[in-house]
Amino acid sequence: MKQITILAIETSCDETAAAILSGSIESKQPSFKFLSSVIKSQISIHQKTGGVVPEVAAREHMAVISPVVQKTLADAKLTLSKLDYVAVTSGPGLIASLIVGTEFAKGIATGANIPLLPTNHMSGHLYSAFADGKPAQFPALAIIVSGGHTMFLLMKDYKSYKVVGNTVDDAAGEAFDKVARLLNLPYPGGPEISKLAQSGKTDLNFPRPMLHFKNFDFSFAGLKTAVLYHIDKLKKPLSKQTKADIAMSFENAVVDVITQKALKAVQKHGCKTITLAGGVAANRALRESLAKLSAENGLNFKVPNHELCGDNAQMIALAAYFNLLAGVKPSKPSQVHANPAWELL
Ligand code: KG4
Ligand code: ZN
Repeated sequence: MKQITILAIETSCDETAAAILSGSIESKQPSFKFLSSVIKSQISIHQKTGGVVPEVAAREHMAVISPVVQKTLADAKLTLSKLDYVAVTSGPGLIASLIVGTEFAKGIATGANIPLLPTNHMSGHLYSAFADGKPAQFPALAIIVSGGHTMFLLMKDYKSYKVVGNTVDDAAGEAFDKVARLLNLPYPGGPEISKLAQSGKTDLNFPRPMLHFKNFDFSFAGLKTAVLYHIDKLKKPLSKQTKADIAMSFENAVVDVITQKALKAVQKHGCKTITLAGGVAANRALRESLAKLSAENGLNFKVPNHELCGDNAQMIALAAYFNLLAGVKPSKPSQVHANPAWELL
């Protein structure tokens, strides 16, 4: 069975990451393993400014990308000559950050004389739900909730998918981060809200935007504004309990909208599986709610381990591997360019 080795590089936002996957491209079922994975997070740098400053992120990627890739190769006990492909996130994301990873990957592919696999960041999140390597049952509803996206995709099999729902304004993670800022919590806000929500007691019944719409689109900007208006009316400074109640009520609203829309989508499309991925997939309440929904409706539920929810290069290696299985042809390095607006269809 022909085994291939892929080195993947991810620099679309504020993690510099590389990973190596070894997989078979001849077996009917996907068959792969990860040989190494390194993630260098920039969180401590961006905490000082309360969010990602794109220029700063790109400079940091430049400073660490070479050691990150070298460590990834060393951990896998491989040299460049043993690689078959280089995969790189070439979009969507922050333009300057994407350019660092894409140009670095082009350099490696050219130097090692191997093909390049430009890979979509969101397809990385999509396939991260299959990182356990266990066969999945289709059709599947794939839910991606990240800092920049909230999407429902319908997967007919591993290679055929289409977007059936999207956010019309703020993504779920973006709303978590903005509400965290309203509560003066540190960056990134999602995990902070999630932690604080656990001590919430009173649900403030924030609105569930677009819940009763027939489509599977989302809007979280209005929910964030409802939180803002609520905070405006309160006496300052806010007590710890008041903040916890707001965090819990906000989280409940997001989880409720996603869960109820997921139920309608699986019923409409006869899905056998729900997958959940992206940074917000680390949220305990959302994981539990979708796990419960799946159990109650006889569905399989697949969600990656916490370390594969946030940005990483294993998911990019995996997406590149699944793309190869689907017959996607690699590119010549000179043909590949960072594309910050590359959306999944
Ligand atoms: O997928 P990701 O790492 O980056 C993008 O591609 O955007 O997602 C980052 C987002 C951030 O908005 C962060 O606040 C959110 O995921 N996040 C969470 C949690 N952990 C990370 N949101 C809610 N609960 C969490 N536990
Ligand atoms: Zn991401």
